[in-house]
Amino acid sequence: MSQIINILGFAGSLRKGSYNRALLRTVLEIVPNNANLEVFELDDIPPFNQDLESSPPEKVKEFKTKIKAADAILIVTPEYNYSIPGVLKNAIDWASRPPGDNSFDGKPVAMMSASIGMLGGARAQYQLRQVFVTLNMYPLNKPEVFVTFANQKFDDKGNLLDEKTKELMGNLLENLVAWARRLKVT
Ligand SMILES: Cc1cc2nc3c(=O)[nH]c(=O)nc-3n(C[C@H](O)[C@H](O)[C@H](O)COP(=O)(O)O)c2cc1C
Repeated sequence: MSQIINILGFAGSLRKGSYNRALLRTVLEIVPNNANLEVFELDDIPPFNQDLESSPPEKVKEFKTKIKAADAILIVTPEYNYSIPGVLKNAIDWASRPPGDNSFDGKPVAMMSASIGMLGGARAQYQLRQVFVTLNMYPLNKPEVFVTFANQKFDDKGNLLDEKTKELMGNLLENLVAWARRLKVT
C-alpha cells in the first residue's frame, strides 16, 4: 500500500524549552517516507466551557477539523502530578464534544512521554490509555516510548542526543503507520 498516512501530533506542554515539544520536533526528522506529520500547537486553546461546546472558539474548530482529517494521532506529553497535564486534557475535552461529534472517534493513536524523572512519564501514559477508552480510540501497544531523565538527553537547542531513544521512536512510528493502515477502511 503506497498511500501516505497523515499523522497529527500535539504536545502536552506549552513550555518554550519543553522536552516533549522537542521530542515531537524530532519526530518530524524521522517520520517514515510513507507518512506525514503535522504538528498542532495547543497554545491559545481556552479553558473548556460546556456552554460553548456546540459553537467552540476558532482554534478548537481548527483542532477538530485537523483531527478528523488525520489517519492517526500522536500525543507527546509530560507527566504532571502522576497524571496528564491539564492543558492536554482540556484540549482533548474540547475535541471530544459535543455528543455525537467526538473528533477522535475510531482514530489510531500512539504516545510518547518525556520526563526529568526515572519513569519517563509512564503513569501519564497509562492514564491517557484510560481516556482513549471513552474516546473510542485505538492505541498502539508497542513499543512504549518513555524518555527518562530528559534533562540529560537533549542539548540546549532541544536536539535529542540519545540514539537509542531515536531508534525506539522510529519503531513506534513504523508501527503506528502499519496500525493506521490496518484500521483504515477506505
Ligand atoms: C506541575 C508539574 C508536575 C510535575 N509532576 C511530575 C510527575 O508527576 N512525574 C514526573 O516524572 N515529572 C513531573 N514533573 C516534572 C516534569 O517531568 C518536567 O517539568 C518536564 O520537563 C515537563 O515536561 P516539558 O519539558 O515537556 O515541559 C512535573 C512538573 C510540573 C510543572
